[in-house]
Amino acid sequence: MLFDTCIRNGTVVSAAESFRADVGILGGRVVSVGCDLGPAAREIDALGLLVMPGGIDAHCHIEEPAYQGAVLADDFASATRAAACGGTTTIIPFVNRLTNASLRASAEDYTARADARACIDYAFHIILDQGSLPYLEQELPKLMQEGYLSVKVFMNYPGYMLGDDSILKVMDITRRHGGVTLVHAENGHCVHWLANSLDPAKKSRISSFACTSPTAVEREATHRALTLAQISGARTLLVHVSAAEAAEQIRWARGRGIPILAETCPQYLVGTINDLDTPGWEAAKFLCSPPLRSQADVDAIWGDLANGVFQIVSSDHCPYRFEGTSGKRAGGDLDFTHIPPGLPGLETRLVLLFSEGVSTGRITPEQFVAMTATNPARIYGLLPHKGTVMPGADADIVLWDPKATTVIRHADLHDDCDYTPYEGRVVTGLPVMTFSRGECLWNRGRFAATPGRGRLAERTPSP
Ligand code: URP
Ligand code: ZN
Ligand code: ZN
Ligand code: ZN
Repeated sequence: MLFDTCIRNGTVVSAAESFRADVGILGGRVVSVGCDLGPAAREIDALGLLVMPGGIDAHCHIEEPAYQGAVLADDFASATRAAACGGTTTIIPFVNRLTNASLRASAEDYTARADARACIDYAFHIILDQGSLPYLEQELPKLMQEGYLSVKVFMNYPGYMLGDDSILKVMDITRRHGGVTLVHAENGHCVHWLANSLDPAKKSRISSFACTSPTAVEREATHRALTLAQISGARTLLVHVSAAEAAEQIRWARGRGIPILAETCPQYLVGTINDLDTPGWEAAKFLCSPPLRSQADVDAIWGDLANGVFQIVSSDHCPYRFEGTSGKRAGGDLDFTHIPPGLPGLETRLVLLFSEGVSTGRITPEQFVAMTATNPARIYGLLPHKGTVMPGADADIVLWDPKATTVIRHADLHDDCDYTPYEGRVVTGLPVMTFSRGECLWNRGRFAATPGRGRLAERTPSP
């Protein structure tokens, strides 16, 4: 057999093991993994490189409606360009209901926009805001049958926060259709009360945001979410877990046989509350929800990554620009309630986790692959096409140089945001080449892909 491409002499890393092997690609798929494979039209020498499944970023916000007047910087073209340059080959952004639109109309609209512009493959979670409730029974089951298998519910944010009864209703539907319920676990009533009780002088300090969303607010909501998961029997995943106390609840639940799943993000592994304490406007670059936590929380989350409490590390890419009329500073004052929460991170997710996790020995390369590709593929029904380098899978592959180092600079990134919270950070371990269905999109600093080549990824419900 003549392969289209053969990647030779690299170390293939799966979620379970690492081994020296060649990878043969034909027709956009991996067709052979083994020794001494036959000839290929394109030969790639991967000596010294890791051959890993391309990353799956299972939490990113792209082309969603404006929030408090702030507009997300990336469209599906720029977001997927940045993703590919960072070693990611599949994204799972959100369908966030359009004004006065049904869930179905919104899902079709987002999918058409991704179809027109995405450079890599994609799937969608559906956000269920308060206005979605009338469409639940009528539309969600059918949408799930069509492959929109995961939904996100919120325990906070005006307009989004759902009561326990509504969350149970959603969980019951996702359970019946083999889907997953993602939960943003922060108690919105507490956040609201704390914000209203704040000394007015403190409102004009960005760091006061953290006082309105302390770890107790996340801990309580986490416990409630896993209780609702237990009662409904629904597969449930807690997103962007930031606090040691919340992770402790997850461990507690697992100890009692409640099969709760959990995600954290690089910002909760490399950033701390000190970043939010930066004077003046700089702090806005670190404002996200939940807020960055203490060094003790960061250390605990690292420990829980290594010991299996977390299944997924996603970016929660939410790229509000810093400058400009629709960015973080557009409110004009330092009142944190005027600053939209969220950080850009699609392109830096893998390098940060590899550098701070694998290069330092906190996690193994196999755990890195599990949490950035294979687990998200399994949890969101993308296996066997995505998240693994094995015969039959899509040739979504990243060649990774574990020894290369660089300094993160926004000027070198490929999103349409105007800053990175990680400016100046030195990282070890970089993506050298990224392949999407066998096509090389990122090659040693050069990106080439036609927007619109990305496809809606096939998903299978959980049994
Ligand atoms: O600050 C964040 N995380 N913004 C995005 C919205 C969300 O809750 O994921
Ligand atoms: Zn959230
Ligand atoms: Zn998010
Ligand atoms: Zn198939």
